[in-house]
Amino acid sequence: MTADHASSPFDLQDRVVIVTGGAVGIGKIYSERLAELGAHVVIADIAADAGDALAKSIVSNRGSAISVATDIADPIATDAMAEAALKAFGKIDALVNNASLMSTLPRRSWLEIPLEEWDRVMQVNLRGLFLCCRSVVPHMKARKKGKIVNIASTRVFEGTPNRLHYTTSKGGVLAFTRALAREVGEDNITVNCIAPGLTLSETQLASSSQSYLANSYDQGRAFVRPQVPADLVGALLFLLTDASDFMTGQTLVVDGGRVMH
Ligand SMILES: NC(=O)c1ccc[n+]([C@@H]2O[C@H](COP(=O)([O-])OP(=O)(O)OC[C@H]3O[C@@H](n4cnc5c(N)ncnc54)[C@H](O)[C@@H]3O)[C@@H](O)[C@H]2O)c1
Repeated sequence: MTADHASSPFDLQDRVVIVTGGAVGIGKIYSERLAELGAHVVIADIAADAGDALAKSIVSNRGSAISVATDIADPIATDAMAEAALKAFGKIDALVNNASLMSTLPRRSWLEIPLEEWDRVMQVNLRGLFLCCRSVVPHMKARKKGKIVNIASTRVFEGTPNRLHYTTSKGGVLAFTRALAREVGEDNITVNCIAPGLTLSETQLASSSQSYLANSYDQGRAFVRPQVPADLVGALLFLLTDASDFMTGQTLVVDGGRVMH
């Protein structure tokens, strides 16, 4: 079943990839595309029904996927996520830390953010990231190879206001990426980051006004068109495969050329 020596540096065939938040929005597109490219996908999402339906649909299209109901802020759940991946597929090659609290957050002044909302954002977006890595890295370490891809946001570089907790947490994702990369380098595990610009996921579309969405690409993008989830897949594929084996601690901005990092 395993194909650790890939014929192409971009080969994902039989790689086991956990995608957190992999059932909805951009994560759903990641799960579908990775399965089409031959990966065994572990959909780890708090949206369990959507995860189950997506796994079923991938399998019915001759792909390979399982769904594991996971709240990434819960250490018992993230350990269970890793165990489920091992039980189903025997190894874990890669972890995509895509889950976050974003589209459900109102855009409002920083002084109007309730304390409980601030805490929950940090709990999911940062503690969740830490817990997922903590549950998965020991298994990568044992095999002396692994790929971790964290999802930040161009908000970090633009200082985008009105979701201050969310923007702050994504700055943490970037710092986490850099420091963890140094801690796990000796185990041949890469830790990199993608910073998407505003992307028309189904959830972003449902939670944003037309004028807010239009501003995202009318102002300052080299490619003046909306960004869609499929625009992120190439960068993800690069960071998940052998093609990026000597690259770690880095952040790839994918936003049509608005932020140049
Ligand atoms: N859409 C954008 O414009 C945009 C821009 C920059 C970065 N991002 C980032 O890209 C990623 C995906 O964005 P999206 O638009 O699909 O966002 P989204 O809000 O639609 O999706 C987030 C996903 O995380 C899951 N999730 C939420 N809390 C969870 C928890 N506690 N445990 C497990 N899963 C949980 C949700 O069910 C969902 O599948 C996020 O990290 C987001 O911050 C998105």
